[in-house]
Amino acid sequence: MKGWFITFEGCDGCGKSTQLGLLRSFLEENNVEFIFTREPGGGRISEGIREILLNGKNAEMSDECEALLYAASRAQHIHDRIEPALKEGKVVVCDRYVDSSFAYQAYARGLGMEFVSKINHFALDKFLPDLTFFIDLSPEEAFARKHGADENDRMEQAGLAFHKKVYEGYLAVAKAYPQRVVVLNGRQSIEEIARDVQTVLCSRGVVTK
Ligand code: ADP
Ligand code: TYD
Repeated sequence: MKGWFITFEGCDGCGKSTQLGLLRSFLEENNVEFIFTREPGGGRISEGIREILLNGKNAEMSDECEALLYAASRAQHIHDRIEPALKEGKVVVCDRYVDSSFAYQAYARGLGMEFVSKINHFALDKFLPDLTFFIDLSPEEAFARKHGADENDRMEQAGLAFHKKVYEGYLAVAKAYPQRVVVLNGRQSIEEIARDVQTVLCSRGVVTK
């Protein structure tokens, strides 16, 4: 029995957590067996790597080390949680996965797709998602939502340049993998986006009503 491997991607603040919460309820209502997990993290060792990656004290970490740690935590995550759940025929929903490495490490950090693809090819083995939802909302729009339209202070401008590259990376990934990546219009209401997710899950046979 083979389950479904579904990932959610997008820029910080695009509405990912909101949609993941609604998806959980939808899967429960339809008696789907599932697990929810996240990256970086998703298991004891991978959560340990997450703590190293996201700890502000490690700001001097090189881009190469960062990319390798994301890939390493992914390899362990697959081993500990993703592969076992898929083998049991479950739906695995993961908050971020390899496309985050493409957008953040390959594009925004500038490591390039060749290097990031290579290390992830080794880490992933065959575990590419069956389906990826990319919530398409630009960082400017996400920032405005969070802080109000006028508040773009200097510090945030520096952050904005990085997040614009992340966004460009996601658009490139969506274009490169049109079969796997479903682009959701992040400017819609919360309910409209949730409805789009549900429609795709029903049409692909992940959920049968
Ligand atoms: P993320 O997990 O991607 O950082 P969140 O789901 O936490 O994003 O959403 C960030 C903020 O935007 C929250 O205040 C949330 O209520 C709000 N939000 C989420 N989706 C929408 C939407 N479609 N329209 C308007 N506001 C939204
Ligand atoms: P998190 O707090 O989970 O952010 P979010 O709520 O936006 O998902 O932190 C995850 C951070 O890690 C996020 O900024 C993106 C980054 N990241 C990468 O840079 N590369 C990766 O491969 C992954 C999985 C995450």
